[in-house]
Amino acid sequence: MSTGNDHYVFAARLSDVRDAGCKAVQVNEHAVTLFAHQDKVYAVDNRCPHMGFPLEKGTVKNGILTCHWHHARFDLESGGTFDQFADDVRSFPVEIRNGEVWIDVARHDDPYQHQQERLRVGLERDIPLVMGKAVLVLMGGNGDPVEPFRLGLDFGTKYRRGGWRQGLTMHTCFMNMLPYLDPEDRPRAMYHGLSAVARESFGEPPRFPILPLPTTTADISTLKSWFRQFVEVRDAEGAERCIISAIRAGADEVQMADILFSAVTDHRYIDIGHPADFTNKAFEALDIAGWEYAEQVLTSLVTGYAFGDRMEESNAWRHPVDLIAILEDTFDKLPAAVELGLKARAADVHQWNDQGNLTTVLLDDDPQSIADALLAALVAGGGETDLASTVSHAAVLRIARFHTSNEFPDWDTALHTFTFANAIEQGIRRAPSVELLRGVFDAAMSVYLDRFLNIPGTRIPQPNGKAENPDALLAELTALLDKQQQVNQSGSVLARYLFNDGKPGKLLAMLVKLLLREDRDFHTIQTVEGAFKQYQPLQGTTAGNHVLIAAVRYLAAHSPTVRAQGQTYEIAYRLHRGDRLFEEA
Ligand code: FES
Repeated sequence: MSTGNDHYVFAARLSDVRDAGCKAVQVNEHAVTLFAHQDKVYAVDNRCPHMGFPLEKGTVKNGILTCHWHHARFDLESGGTFDQFADDVRSFPVEIRNGEVWIDVARHDDPYQHQQERLRVGLERDIPLVMGKAVLVLMGGNGDPVEPFRLGLDFGTKYRRGGWRQGLTMHTCFMNMLPYLDPEDRPRAMYHGLSAVARESFGEPPRFPILPLPTTTADISTLKSWFRQFVEVRDAEGAERCIISAIRAGADEVQMADILFSAVTDHRYIDIGHPADFTNKAFEALDIAGWEYAEQVLTSLVTGYAFGDRMEESNAWRHPVDLIAILEDTFDKLPAAVELGLKARAADVHQWNDQGNLTTVLLDDDPQSIADALLAALVAGGGETDLASTVSHAAVLRIARFHTSNEFPDWDTALHTFTFANAIEQGIRRAPSVELLRGVFDAAMSVYLDRFLNIPGTRIPQPNGKAENPDALLAELTALLDKQQQVNQSGSVLARYLFNDGKPGKLLAMLVKLLLREDRDFHTIQTVEGAFKQYQPLQGTTAGNHVLIAAVRYLAAHSPTVRAQGQTYEIAYRLHRGDRLFEEA
């Protein structure tokens, strides 16, 4: 009777299956349901792949098995589903031997590869539960997060004609925050990022790549100037062809960053900073995924450059003070100031260390003084990153001091300036240039324009000398964020945690967990992730504390949400753990 396949195992007597029509059996570690249907016997996993309902309670009609919980339908023979939210159910080959039903329980597929396929299905059809289940398998054990990250990046840059926007930004933010989390919490962050990509791409037309110039002698600097020229006249296709041609011509990461960051700062504070932030995130995504994704990732940015609003056209940047005129006059002086600063640094006698005074000017009320102070700092030997990080910190302080008497949407005003300033700073760290330095001045002007947010200003918490248990304070923070508008209270608790020598690593992990607890809010994710980036070089300093206070205040202002997305992940997690959800339904 043997077919030469050693994996067949006795499952039941044929007469028992025929008499009952359907019989659930345990074969080794497998819960299996046997169906007698149209003179044949079929064997499928008894656990519905959607949410685990017992398929023995299902109905078979005309060769199709229907689960009785959410009505997913399966081809009884192959197990293939007709409902993509459910996944295929595993079917087992059957042999009838001497009046007995034997089934082959050996695994003939690669579960990892299968879950990669399922993740693609989840992305294509925007099914968060499918994505949650897939990442839990793909990242289980020592699973590498880079592969699912790449899948999301690849998908998002191909299947949204409008290119890179919030979804891919959130995906990259979560990937950046992954190391702060305990390993068991990391799939949740990946799930949120992938779900953001899927939601934003759903129903969108795909992006068809533009080919590079066929043969050209144009060098990288010519392609850079053509790119800027085409962005200037809002010709996204021509600009995209320059990008792809430069990459094919061998432009490296620094050269490409120079091309893109130069163009994104050719106009003032384009689209309230989003294209610059997306550019920074795109390069961070490439750091993780690899340069082989450069063409599809970097070309996906171009639409945002070409069609973004330019602040030269806005009233606030023109009246009552013409900030554009101040900036253009200052930009004329930038090359010489950079040159003088280089000489000062080379002479090693003017080590610039005046962040405190510069911050005071930045937060004050005089845009001409702000431009002059930045220029003077450059001449005095302040490096590009010194200036950029000082402006980023001033933008953080606007959030740390944001008064809750402002209108709620004003949080976004402060956030946009901060994420733009942070993006420019990170861009300068990656590929410094005089062109990109203009972005530091733009960010400084935006900090100036946001001054109303701190009138009146909230006082940043100071040490009170009271000894408190840091762990209890973390628990208090968690409880506070279960209630609406605990902005100042949350800032205070976080500050007291730090003043009582609470471990920063534990706090950062908790902040990401609290962020993941809520439904995704693009701006809150940007704020927390940007704050983490800013905090790294400032860890253990008062300035570092202010960064985290700003982050938690923003998070508290936007908590709690209904937490529906987290509930879907919880279902995926419990299914992954083997919980029998239907028994509690
Ligand atoms: S359809 Fe079977 S558990 Fe949902």
